[in-house]
Amino acid sequence: MSGRILIVDDEPSIRKVLSAHLRRFGHDVDTANDGAVAISRLQSETFALVVSDLKMPHVDGMELLRWITTHQPTLPVILITAHGTVDSAVAAIKEGAFDYITKPFDRDELDGVITKALNTRALRSGRASARTPRTVIVGSTARMREVYRLIEKVAPSPTTVLVTGESGTGKELVARSIHEQSDRATGPFIQVNCGAIPENLFEAELFGYEKGSFTGAVTSKPGRFELASGGTLFLDEVGELPRDMQVKLLRALQERQIDRVGGVRSVDVDVRIVAATNADLDADVERGAFRRDLYYRLSVFPIGLPPLRERVEDIPQLVEHFLEQFNARLSKSVRSVTPDALAALMASPWPGNIRELENLMERSVLLAEADTLGVGDLPGLRGGGALPLSTDELDDLGLKEYVRVHTARLERARIQRVLEAEDGNVTRAARRLGISRKSLQTKMKEYGLRDG
Ligand SMILES: Nc1ncnc2c1ncn2[C@@H]1O[C@H](COP(=O)(O)OP(=O)(O)OP(=O)(O)O)[C@@H](O)[C@H]1O
Ligand SMILES: [Mg+2]
Repeated sequence: MSGRILIVDDEPSIRKVLSAHLRRFGHDVDTANDGAVAISRLQSETFALVVSDLKMPHVDGMELLRWITTHQPTLPVILITAHGTVDSAVAAIKEGAFDYITKPFDRDELDGVITKALNTRALRSGRASARTPRTVIVGSTARMREVYRLIEKVAPSPTTVLVTGESGTGKELVARSIHEQSDRATGPFIQVNCGAIPENLFEAELFGYEKGSFTGAVTSKPGRFELASGGTLFLDEVGELPRDMQVKLLRALQERQIDRVGGVRSVDVDVRIVAATNADLDADVERGAFRRDLYYRLSVFPIGLPPLRERVEDIPQLVEHFLEQFNARLSKSVRSVTPDALAALMASPWPGNIRELENLMERSVLLAEADTLGVGDLPGLRGGGALPLSTDELDDLGLKEYVRVHTARLERARIQRVLEAEDGNVTRAARRLGISRKSLQTKMKEYGLRDG
């Protein structure tokens, strides 16, 4: 059952405590202080389990996890989170983590999780690891079908792709999907968030560095370009790239070569670039904030994602998708949303697009007490209950959905009027509507109506 365990954490004290504890149980333990170091370790040695901190300064636990699920899908990963927030734990499991543990450690819990992970590993490695694409893009409106067509067309080529769209429209999903449908699918997918790297660390992050090239460079480290070799490099928020890095990136793209900081010779890299931005790069070029030559290099094949408010007919499908996803993840069994709630969801402006919808669904499923969500069960929905669907939007609905939305509107309006007439007295209103008090209360909850 035993096998080598790789512990990855930037805090020396955690590495020490964990390895001492695991060694006491007869495990063979190795450590790394960063995700990038861990990756180069994994490339040259075999491990049975990785236990990694989630938050690390350079390549963090999430990225390490993604690399492992792509390259060594049978290798279980346990992530360490400082605060057992639903968010980070859910995100980690979603990305394929075996489990997570929270700091400070509970020894019994830790031992239990590790034993389970090592046993699973033994089972898993017997299975072939044919990787089916994991990225699911939901939506079947004409706008989305066009996006799928473009992805399919460009994926097999080495062409650089620029994905544009408002925040939360699915740019990262598209980038992953291009990678998965390309002949580089078995290679790495490495992500760089250009908006999140401090300016002075950019070069080292992208191109790596040699030992001793600056204070603190105690080892040599490959940059994201090298880590992505044979795969795809996703340059997220590329509009945030500092000016001097724009020049260096352009050179790397043109020559397919990079220089490590403090390195003596150039290194050949074979990477496919997918860049994304929610900025108007065109305008940035015009006002001189983004280099025109780099813009031309990146925008060879643009894919624009529509905001959610321009494809509201996809909302029923997205809602169903997220219900299924969060039911499974949160062990809940919410089966549907009421027609009125659906109408309210379709009427909302969604400035945060699909991410906003996804977060709302997660919150709602988590808090749900019944198996159906009404308007009142969608905390934080903008304009909830008002049903301000425009005629145009209603016209785009299928007949069934159209009738449901209209029926719900009629029903809600009628209930509201009678309740008002009866001064909010539920018993009298129910009698007048010819339904039981209990079913009126259920409908009021569904429609977000309050008595009194
Ligand atoms: N069409 C879709 N179907 C299912 N889930 C989606 C879809 N589009 C986006 N999502 C989900 O919404 C969230 C946001 O998507 P993503 O991170 O790809 O957006 P983004 O455009 O990169 O956003 P940002 O500009 O803020 O980085 C993700 O959790 C993603 O899984
Ligand atoms: Mg993104």
